[in-house]
Amino acid sequence: RPKVTIRTIQKLYAEGKPLAMMTAYDYPTAVACERAGVDMVLVGDSLAMVALGHEDTSQVTMDEMIHHSRAVARGTRSAFLVTDLPFGAYHADEAAAVNNAIRMVKEGRAEAVKLEAGRRAAAKFDAIVNGAGIPAVGHIGLTPQTAVALGGFRVQGKTVGGAQALVDDALALQSAGCFAVLLEAMPSLVAETITRLLSVPTIGIGAGAATSGQVLVLSDMVGLFDRFTPKFCRGFADLGPRMASAVADYKLAVRAREFPAEGTHTYAMSAAAEDKWRT
Ligand code: KIV
Ligand code: NA
Repeated sequence: RPKVTIRTIQKLYAEGKPLAMMTAYDYPTAVACERAGVDMVLVGDSLAMVALGHEDTSQVTMDEMIHHSRAVARGTRSAFLVTDLPFGAYHADEAAAVNNAIRMVKEGRAEAVKLEAGRRAAAKFDAIVNGAGIPAVGHIGLTPQTAVALGGFRVQGKTVGGAQALVDDALALQSAGCFAVLLEAMPSLVAETITRLLSVPTIGIGAGAATSGQVLVLSDMVGLFDRFTPKFCRGFADLGPRMASAVADYKLAVRAREFPAEGTHTYAMSAAAEDKWRT
């Protein structure tokens, strides 16, 4: 499959083909995304919760995001690789945002970065995209990094004022140079309006079917996260219980001395050496 580039994404968007983005956190999940042929892979800071077990995403560091991004990059060939800048990595000022975007490209091997921010971060996006030449995605609506300030994991844009604020955010992100805008947990009608107003693709999660693309958290959609599943997620598989039952079968087989099976999972000496060894 040819390498997906910014131009590929723009072409698919122009043709009205819905873009498929999926999160990945390490080499095997990246390989699964690559084999599936998704257009974009996102190393989401959701990894704080689904891969590292934190209560929320605010704990994960730049170094940890880089570590996971590098692993995902090793399993990604053709898909376009976007990595989240974590909480704290772009909040201080433009210089911090640019320096960490550069680190995510140089050390994390990302092709683009995503920041959970709207119009108030326009200057930071401009500095990353037009200053440093790094493609960027804005993420608005339910922004998990600031869930505490939002009063929890709550749907955004349910009021006219809230919806208008999201429209303003999306337009500002486009003006600042974002090549795509991610819309999380908002009424479908609001996401549809934003998608119609923008001339760059929107990528939705819990934002309805009208967006230019979709993204889901891999661990949620394959049943590998045990704590909760958001309403907007569809379970495409239930791997968690299958993995647990495989480990349970293994444990029983060990206790019963059924595993390893002599001859199948074992190594032998040469016949001559064995004869000698036994005497
Ligand atoms: O961190 C993440 O996985 C994300 C997706 C929910 C879009 O940002
Ligand atoms: Na994220």
